[in-house]
Amino acid sequence: MLVALLATTACRRNVPLNSSTTEPEVVPHPVSAVRTGTGFELRSPITLSTEGPGDESLRAALADWMGEQSRHLGAPFAFTADDVNAQISIVLGVAGVEAESYRLEAADGRILVAAGDASGAFYGLQTLRQLLSVDGEGRIRSAAVRIEDSPRFGYRGMHLDVARHFFPVEFVKRYIDLLASYKMNRFHWHLTEDQGWRIQIDAYPRLTSVGSCRAETIVERNFDPYIGDGTPYCGYYTKDEIRDVVAYAADRFVTVIPEIEMPGHSLAALAAYPALSCGGGPFEVGTRWGVFEDIYCPSEETFAFLETVLEEVLELFPSEYIHIGGDEAPKRAWEESPLAQEVIRREGLADEHELQSYFIQRIEAFLNGHGRKLIGWDEILEGGLAPDATVMSWRGTAGGIAAAQQGHDVIMTPTSHMYFDYYQGDPEYEPLAIGGFLPLQRVYEFEPVPDALSAAEAVHVLGGQANVWTEYMKTPDHVEYMAYPRAIALAEVLWSPSSLRDWDSFAQRLARELPRLDRLGVNYRLPDVSGLERDRLSLEAVTVVRLGMPLPGARITYTLDGTEPGRTSPGYARPFALDLSNGPVTIRARAFTSSGRASAPAQATFRHAELRTPDLDSGDALLSGLSRTYYEGPFDSVDQLEDAPAAGRSTIPTVGFSGAEAPEHFGLVFEGYIRIPEGGLYEFELGSDDGSRLTVGAEIVVDHDGLHGMSTLTGQAALAEGFHRFHLEYFQSGGGIGLELRMRQPGASKAMDVPAGWLYRDGAGQR
Ligand code: ACM
Repeated sequence: MLVALLATTACRRNVPLNSSTTEPEVVPHPVSAVRTGTGFELRSPITLSTEGPGDESLRAALADWMGEQSRHLGAPFAFTADDVNAQISIVLGVAGVEAESYRLEAADGRILVAAGDASGAFYGLQTLRQLLSVDGEGRIRSAAVRIEDSPRFGYRGMHLDVARHFFPVEFVKRYIDLLASYKMNRFHWHLTEDQGWRIQIDAYPRLTSVGSCRAETIVERNFDPYIGDGTPYCGYYTKDEIRDVVAYAADRFVTVIPEIEMPGHSLAALAAYPALSCGGGPFEVGTRWGVFEDIYCPSEETFAFLETVLEEVLELFPSEYIHIGGDEAPKRAWEESPLAQEVIRREGLADEHELQSYFIQRIEAFLNGHGRKLIGWDEILEGGLAPDATVMSWRGTAGGIAAAQQGHDVIMTPTSHMYFDYYQGDPEYEPLAIGGFLPLQRVYEFEPVPDALSAAEAVHVLGGQANVWTEYMKTPDHVEYMAYPRAIALAEVLWSPSSLRDWDSFAQRLARELPRLDRLGVNYRLPDVSGLERDRLSLEAVTVVRLGMPLPGARITYTLDGTEPGRTSPGYARPFALDLSNGPVTIRARAFTSSGRASAPAQATFRHAELRTPDLDSGDALLSGLSRTYYEGPFDSVDQLEDAPAAGRSTIPTVGFSGAEAPEHFGLVFEGYIRIPEGGLYEFELGSDDGSRLTVGAEIVVDHDGLHGMSTLTGQAALAEGFHRFHLEYFQSGGGIGLELRMRQPGASKAMDVPAGWLYRDGAGQR
């Protein structure tokens, strides 16, 4: 049958899904997807067959899939043993198709999903779900396509913290179900914390009888003075519940990776068993958030305890990887502990960091002895990495880079792109969150493999994961609001080839996917109205404003006077002309759905601009490259560079580092001219960690000042042909470091690095 279908489609006109007027419908984007016709109708009931080795492992997932499709399409599905006439045939064990990969052919009333194994077939079905639709007359239709697909990364994860707030089994399953439907395959279950121990351990019943309850919870961010809600908060999973979740996940090809935190974030365990601490307690389960000084003491009693706990954990979780935390473990308790100091002496360790390393290495030896592998947060690099450990890089990507360069496997989860507890919009319109700013598009721009890695080192990047820490998420609805649709952007980052990454395409495919989340009752955040991502210049006095719908059928309303648009404000129907001759105009727009959802207001200012007169018409007096001034920090704003004494001057071909900068605190100023070959609107993307500011002539084009992780801001400049004064300031203040300047020329679809040949410096007297 495979051969027959290939033959019938081979001679058809091939229309790439993403180049036709019809937008591609599949998210995450397949490796290759070709439209082979206009689509076809399916008969009701839709018959479906499976064959090949391993098809029984698909049954549970398939039953679910058929259920959701039946409800959505309003038509029943039926299994058939008669695979010759089945409309959907799933064939497993197909030679040459790797694990997790599949081929999908849909043509002439027949759909074939060909996979090597059941996980590949499962992913093929997730794609097929997005190809089926009901037309105006209630007929079920499939797109006619040929798809070949396989994941970019083997580790495609989502994490959930059930310790700060506890979530019932039913919700955990739903969370797993959703992430699996976007082809993610790891669920990192954060089960133990200062504020609660959430997993039954038979050998240590007080872990749950004492450790799973806190006396109360801090109200919002009332740390000082502390205000608690006065209400006890409890919850844990029994072993039966955990087995149930693990089996449920396995049916959806998701591996559950448990996290048992050590040596820090362990206050709940210490409240239950204070003898495991260095000071002896007593302790109470944490009621506020943050990092606590009391951690496990590196005693033999602690190791015996942890090994017994882990033995029970290993019985429940077949995952090869076990996460042992390792993050945020303050060392004061060990500095003050005679016992900890004695271990340092006994083992010949240099300090408390090496003691943490010793601690983790003992646990790793235990896990390896049981045939498992250890994952830890990137702090496990400090004091020396355990020999076989996999590092989860969360404090930026530097830890991941260092680990990969040492030959260790890495999972990228940097706060800059992967912390779904961060705000997704203006806090004024968002529920209380921990801080930060991580809009959907920034998630989508995440690149898990840093440029700093060689091809051989890059192999160690197993994939990525988003973390959902729940200090400020008390309910399943709130978790869904923070996770979706950012998780779908992440799914595409981890599944699809990076060469296919295209924000506009993604936004359109996402818009078609959101109605599914509505049907499933997922409390996702409605994306902002598009077209207002940034302020815009226009070379004409009248410009056309084009707004994009985050969801088909939504109603967009907008205002032009700076007021907040409401449901009854003027509605947007089609692109409209905006007169800028009386000055800049600020558009604010929101989307409203029939299901009652409203997006946060998006806003941008449109301004009429004349082409800027160049500072020099000719570059006769110039030399290529930029002049670069180096300053010694610390700084927390580029404004401080102006009055700082220069510590060095050099020339450099283009924007970047020389490699001779101090590792932590410094500033740089790049000065010269940029040669503009033809007049028009130029867009500059300035990415930096920490602050930066680009000025052309006297005008600030991108102001990205302040202390922050790697992120990009975009600005426009209207520039006439010639040489314009170029001034770029930057400072680095510890932690991650980065500076990138890209530019989009008029009419170009993508930004590129500013060509070195476009940058010049004063050459008078230097020839
Ligand atoms: C972490 O966010 N402490 C891993």
